[in-house]
Amino acid sequence: MKKILDNKYINKIINGDCLSVMSEMPDESLDLVVTSPPYNLKNSTGNGMKDGRGGKWSGAALVNGYSHYNDNMPHNEYANWQHNCLREMYRLINDEGAIFYNHKWRVQDGLLQDRQDIIRDLPVRQIIIWRRKGGINFNPGYFLPTYEVIYLIPKPNFKLVQKANAFGDVWEFKQEMKNSHPAPFPVALIDRIISSTTAKNILDPFMGSGTTAVVAMWHKRNYVGIELSPDYCLMAEQRIERNKKQSELIGLKPLTLFQETEK
Ligand SMILES: C[S@@+](CC[C@H](N)C(=O)[O-])C[C@H]1O[C@@H](n2cnc3c(N)ncnc32)[C@H](O)[C@@H]1O
Repeated sequence: MKKILDNKYINKIINGDCLSVMSEMPDESLDLVVTSPPYNLKNSTGNGMKDGRGGKWSGAALVNGYSHYNDNMPHNEYANWQHNCLREMYRLINDEGAIFYNHKWRVQDGLLQDRQDIIRDLPVRQIIIWRRKGGINFNPGYFLPTYEVIYLIPKPNFKLVQKANAFGDVWEFKQEMKNSHPAPFPVALIDRIISSTTAKNILDPFMGSGTTAVVAMWHKRNYVGIELSPDYCLMAEQRIERNKKQSELIGLKPLTLFQETEK
């Protein structure tokens, strides 16, 4: 049964650990979760991320890591943490709600790590392929990975809006370049997800630079953002303010979504 979301969460960015913040929120009080967690990148083998040298990642912003999180847990601990986060997200969505959970498969010690240990018992309905432009990996043992995945984990009565089903399950979006967060969502990707649903209250528990919030705003939906780093909370708040001003100036035209003027 749908529950009313307390005003203290509506259109707020909360600086804190997402598991503890989510644990305070009532069951079934949200319509949608859209999120991308840290990928535990510094725990991956053979890419130079582990010791901070950069290696093949030397050109990537993520080599410097996140401002307040080191992204380097023992694998089992990481998988359990992410599984627990997903269970909390699932508790929070109502009977018509869904989670869109973005992750990346990777090769670890020569074998594919397909994230099944995170998803486990959650009711995955679909895996959407997000095809990015290019990728980083020159390992001769396998082909260059060029996609990430988005798990659609719905409650039983979740439905897309009319015609959204025709987008199919392979989506092509370029990485976001105009954003100083090290791993931002492309605005267009989140626009595809949010506009494919009627969700009113939308949570991103790993909010980063606030992409989910600004897209929700543009579609006149409510957001709830949780983010560990006070720096990224500030980044998100400033971005939301910029977008509010822009929308007052030019009105709510979805096309302007792709004209972010950052940095
Ligand atoms: C992949 S980034 C998300 C980027 C975001 N999608 C965007 O568009 O900017 C993951 C984020 O999770 C945050 N984070 C790490 N641990 C966290 C925790 N326990 N609770 C909340 N946020 C956390 C990191 O600081 C980082 O900003």
